[in-house]
Amino acid sequence: GDRTATARAHSNIALIKYWGKRDAALNIPAVGSISLTLDALSTDTTVTFRPGLEQDEFWLAGTRADATRASHLLDIVRDSSGVGSRAVVESTNNFPTAAGLASSASGFAALAVAASSAAGLSLKDRELSILARRGSGSAARSLFGGIVELHAGTRADGLDSFAEPVLAAAAWPLTVVIAITELGQKSVNSTTGMGGSALTSPFYPAWVDTGNDDVAAMRLAIANREFQQLGELAEYSCLKLHGLMMSTRPALLYWNAATMAAIHAVRELRANGIPVYFTIDAGPQVKALCPPEHARTVADALGQVAGVHETRISTLGRGAQLLS
Ligand code: DP6
Repeated sequence: GDRTATARAHSNIALIKYWGKRDAALNIPAVGSISLTLDALSTDTTVTFRPGLEQDEFWLAGTRADATRASHLLDIVRDSSGVGSRAVVESTNNFPTAAGLASSASGFAALAVAASSAAGLSLKDRELSILARRGSGSAARSLFGGIVELHAGTRADGLDSFAEPVLAAAAWPLTVVIAITELGQKSVNSTTGMGGSALTSPFYPAWVDTGNDDVAAMRLAIANREFQQLGELAEYSCLKLHGLMMSTRPALLYWNAATMAAIHAVRELRANGIPVYFTIDAGPQVKALCPPEHARTVADALGQVAGVHETRISTLGRGAQLLS
């Protein structure tokens, strides 16, 4: 009969960015990365292996969507479990998908946990993280809560490329204010974008060469609870990434006018004594990092920036979990 399981995973935002793969087929990152798991953004996914079903189905918020990437992860689960049937995958986000916040991170982390459980595998966290990574690199980090590091590893099989918790959410309360500068998703997908950077940007070798140093410096800032250090390193990694993106052919220019205005608003707040730093992924939304006591001020300031549609405040969240 049917074999089913439901899991929840939270999204994450990288402080030290992952961009580029050392193995595209196994989806192994070329550089390590460090992220914050976000309490406010989560995905719930139910996987049902159904004998007799002709092909995998992927439903996002009740609408049928392309199942190719989900199928790829399900194939890995079928191979290692011996479950042969196709599956129905039903996913919902707790945030409006149209806001361009839908992330592959929470989606593939929830899928890895639900699919492996439905197939009767009892994988350890590390194995789940590797499985999620095969779906999407950033998803490996969403297995864990708080602050998380994804190792690039060196093994050809990628078995040393998994994420690990660096610090529990409660150990250092940090807040992320998300400024939504564009509704809808027009961005170039990360997988395609990073493939282009590796092939065409003259900055790519330097990006890979300096990645480990950035991870090491961030680890130290976290160990010492140095917020200014953390913020400066996060902005540095973000701007270095966007320099790499802009020097890709064709150029990956993810920012809009409001993205730039929000960056300046963050710098202006800082000039006025508020400890706040920005980071931006492969899209136009701006995420501002600050201690909790400044979150309201930061959200109000970003909410007044021309072109910012709305702001959301998130604390650090927990790791992926099985719901049933
Ligand atoms: C800019 O994890 O989406 O958000 O492994 O190809 O699915 P794939 O890429 P993905 O890339 C994330 C890129 C980023 C930086 C980060 O999250 O580290």
